[in-house]
Amino acid sequence: MAPLDENSSVLLTGGFGFVGGHVLEQLLREGVGRVHVVDDLSTNPVGVDVLLSELPRASGLTYDPITVREYLEESNERFDAVIHLASVVGPAGVLQHGGRIVPSIVNDTSMLADYALEHRARLVDVSTSEVYGGGRDGLCREDDPKIVPADTTYRLEYAVAKLAAETSLINLHARTGLDVVIVRPFNVGGPRQSGEGGFVVPRFLAQAHLGLPLTIFGDGQARRAFSHVKDVADGVIRAARYGTPGTAYNLGNHGNVVTVDELAGCVITVTESASRKQYIDPTQIYGPDFVEANDKFPSAGRAITGLGWTPQLNVETVVRDAWAYMRKASSETFARLAGRKIIEQLAETRAGGVASTDAVHEPPAGETALAKDRAAGCVREISI
Ligand SMILES: NC(=O)c1ccc[n+]([C@@H]2O[C@H](COP(=O)([O-])OP(=O)(O)OC[C@H]3O[C@@H](n4cnc5c(N)ncnc54)[C@H](O)[C@@H]3O)[C@@H](O)[C@H]2O)c1
Repeated sequence: MAPLDENSSVLLTGGFGFVGGHVLEQLLREGVGRVHVVDDLSTNPVGVDVLLSELPRASGLTYDPITVREYLEESNERFDAVIHLASVVGPAGVLQHGGRIVPSIVNDTSMLADYALEHRARLVDVSTSEVYGGGRDGLCREDDPKIVPADTTYRLEYAVAKLAAETSLINLHARTGLDVVIVRPFNVGGPRQSGEGGFVVPRFLAQAHLGLPLTIFGDGQARRAFSHVKDVADGVIRAARYGTPGTAYNLGNHGNVVTVDELAGCVITVTESASRKQYIDPTQIYGPDFVEANDKFPSAGRAITGLGWTPQLNVETVVRDAWAYMRKASSETFARLAGRKIIEQLAETRAGGVASTDAVHEPPAGETALAKDRAAGCVREISI
């Protein structure tokens, strides 16, 4: 067990990413002695200067803007714990890496396993709910069989890469005593998430803000459990502190199951947008290689009992907090959070196109929109 206190040191890969930024924020807030971030800045959703300005000041924070491989080849500094988040990610984000997803995920994880063994450090591997391949009609429990779909797609490559990495780590634990814990986040949402990788919450928010139709894939009845990034970050840190070595934990709010159609309705309510819903084939936006996930939502019992993890925040809070961040962002950050596809959608919608991101987003003058948000809940959550 890694105490993660003022005497502890943590190596945080992908620490400037969406989830990583919140893990970093909590580690700094809790006064962990030293945190070293390794992030190659390939998909960080907001600029490093923006992120650092939003974090608690900490003398113990250092970083290297390089890949995991480069870092491990150059440095042999010891840390008590390694939290590994760096990865290609997202249903659209993985498309440009097809054929290289397996080597990048497996090789980075394998190098970190060797590092953790050599330094007797605890390793937390951040895997994904994608490893289940849909579970039992969407419900995914850690002891369920994994389903491998027939079609070989880039999405499948991401899922099997994460599963291969997990499998190797758990077997290394069994054979060598590697101190490793696996976490499998389900759909995460909240402040600082970018739509660039194809994530639905920032995409809907940007579309609602820009008056564009909210593009819902298929009939919108796919079910997801959206978990607040702060809850997920807390689960990752709890896994580092309390996780049983060789064990995988789902991190998803089992009380937050909604359909994508309901999520779109929630976004329209929270943003007070006049946008309508539009039901489309996702390959119209992302091209023929894009694959939408099956229903998926977690059983979170193992993390609740084993890690003392209690996800607190409902879907509406996920949407409200992401919106509160996005609507206050500068034009540059807004464009990053919206993602290029949305800026293109706007340009196509408006005759003559859009010359600059300043034209698509003005930061709000005050708190009026949020103050007007409805007190009543906007999402009917389905508990399972
Ligand atoms: N966001 C979700 O809904 C979700 C769900 C399940 C699992 N996950 C997992 O959580 C982790 C973080 O995801 P995220 O949503 O924060 O993604 P993100 O893209 O925002 O963060 C990943 C960070 O890692 C960095 N990075 C990528 N490859 C790297 C490499 N080889 N070396 C160094 N840095 C590298 C990127 O620059 C980025 O800052 C990933 O491992 C992902 O598989 C995320």
